Amino acid sequence: MEVVIVKNPDDVAVHAAKRIVEFMIKKPDVVLGLATGNTPIALYERLVAIYNEGKLSFQDATTFNLDEYIGIEPSNPQSYRSFMNTHLFEKVDIAQSRTHVPECPPGENPRVIGDAYEQKITAVGGIDLQILGIGSNGHIGFNEPYSSLASRTRVKTLTQQTVADNNRLFASGEFQPQLAITMGIATILEARHILLLATGKQKASCIRKAIEGPVSAMCPASALQMHRYTTVILDEDAASELKESDYYRWVNLKHESLVDEYGYFHND
Ligand code: F6R
Repeated sequence: MEVVIVKNPDDVAVHAAKRIVEFMIKKPDVVLGLATGNTPIALYERLVAIYNEGKLSFQDATTFNLDEYIGIEPSNPQSYRSFMNTHLFEKVDIAQSRTHVPECPPGENPRVIGDAYEQKITAVGGIDLQILGIGSNGHIGFNEPYSSLASRTRVKTLTQQTVADNNRLFASGEFQPQLAITMGIATILEARHILLLATGKQKASCIRKAIEGPVSAMCPASALQMHRYTTVILDEDAASELKESDYYRWVNLKHESLVDEYGYFHND
């Protein structure tokens, strides 16, 4: 696992955007896995800014979002489809038909939608680069603690902690979903590269468990230790409980000289 520690949330966005742009320049027909939530908003703003400068195009890119709430329509402003439209899709040159969210409108069978979603990912050759945030309980996507490490796209009941964490986003009296459809942990691990972003003190404990704890379904993000090309980009607050942060910084310094000497080099 590559662990990159930068100063603040802005630097996390700048660093992550740089990685994504480098990737997209090499592979304009990239298949991106995308996350919603507070953490990637600054990243999407940065990507939109780079697009507006004419230095990036999403024309040939295809996207798959990690998850979506069940019980609200895609057109609902609280849906993850709406989030993506607002923060990225409507601001860049991507055709809506190339953007995928595991939408499950009322009346549809989530199991059918989950299987179809997996097939769509396979049909385009899999995800090249998956962006992840992390829940304070260690979830990735909506794979809550105790999710099977072999799970695929399916329905999950959100934990009370996740419902409470997300409650700030809903007005009082507004319907707040307690179910979601999410890519599984095995689905995520099949992405060729993974970029997990975390900022703020409230993520320090789950980041310590994910990076330095045992691989366990109790902390779904710890499954990323099994993925060869995972990069975790953290601000100092999110990294504040890591025991080995001095080593990660040292590795990154060494990394620069390794790249100079050998070209592309990954700290796995
Ligand atoms: C959202 C998602 C979630 C979030 C996580 C962190 O698509 O997959 O796993 O990444 O809940 O959310 P924020 O960034 O709001 O702290």
